[in-house]
Amino acid sequence: MKLLEIQSSVRKENSVSRTLSNEFIQAWQTDRPNIQHKLRDVGINPPEHPTGLWAKANNMPPEERSPEMMAALAESEALIEELLWADYLLMGVPMYNLSVPSSLKAYLDNVIRINRTFTFDPVTYTFQGLARGKKALIITPSAANFVVGTPLGKMNFCDTYLLSVLGFIGIDEVSVVPVPDQFMPDEIRQQEIATAKAKLMDLARDW
Ligand SMILES: Cc1cc2nc3c(=O)[nH]c(=O)nc-3n(C[C@H](O)[C@H](O)[C@H](O)COP(=O)(O)O)c2cc1C
Repeated sequence: MKLLEIQSSVRKENSVSRTLSNEFIQAWQTDRPNIQHKLRDVGINPPEHPTGLWAKANNMPPEERSPEMMAALAESEALIEELLWADYLLMGVPMYNLSVPSSLKAYLDNVIRINRTFTFDPVTYTFQGLARGKKALIITPSAANFVVGTPLGKMNFCDTYLLSVLGFIGIDEVSVVPVPDQFMPDEIRQQEIATAKAKLMDLARDW
């Protein structure tokens, strides 16, 4: 079993997503000693953004790409290989300005690529994900509480966006554990962390 952990908090210390991720992995690994675990820390080491050359190279058949174009796509290719390698994705994703951290968006721009992680048929206008057969878990803290049905609920473009893009590349089995109210008084904040941890410990038994 192969786990790819993707962290996107810019905080190394006191990060709720990183702490809960570590606790989940420890619990999950207890009965699964043979897990191979890779960490892709885009919060600390963000990938390059796509460039014009990158986009041009991406849109042409691989055998026609120049050495410069292949170099422009090299990081993306490595990130895709790593993603395709994994059976499980654990994503630590704090909400930043109602969406995902920009480093994670750069990562997604690098791994969501036509004929690598999805296909698109311009005749039938249908797409198919090529990263199928994986499970994903998203741990997503936020300062506020984005309760569905409230005005803030309509402003959550974080896990809603991730569910769309993961589904687009064929990853449909996704669990989301929100950790809201992280800017509330400490008692409420800790209560939300405890609730999220309890959900994660449940999930660790049969993920
Ligand atoms: C740049 C930035 C933007 C943020 N934007 C939001 C936001 O739009 N909504 C929100 O509820 N929290 C927002 N937050 C708060 C974080 O989601 C919250 O502090 C979370 O706990 C961070 O995750 P971490 O503890 O794993 O670092 C933002 C934090 C940062 C650093």
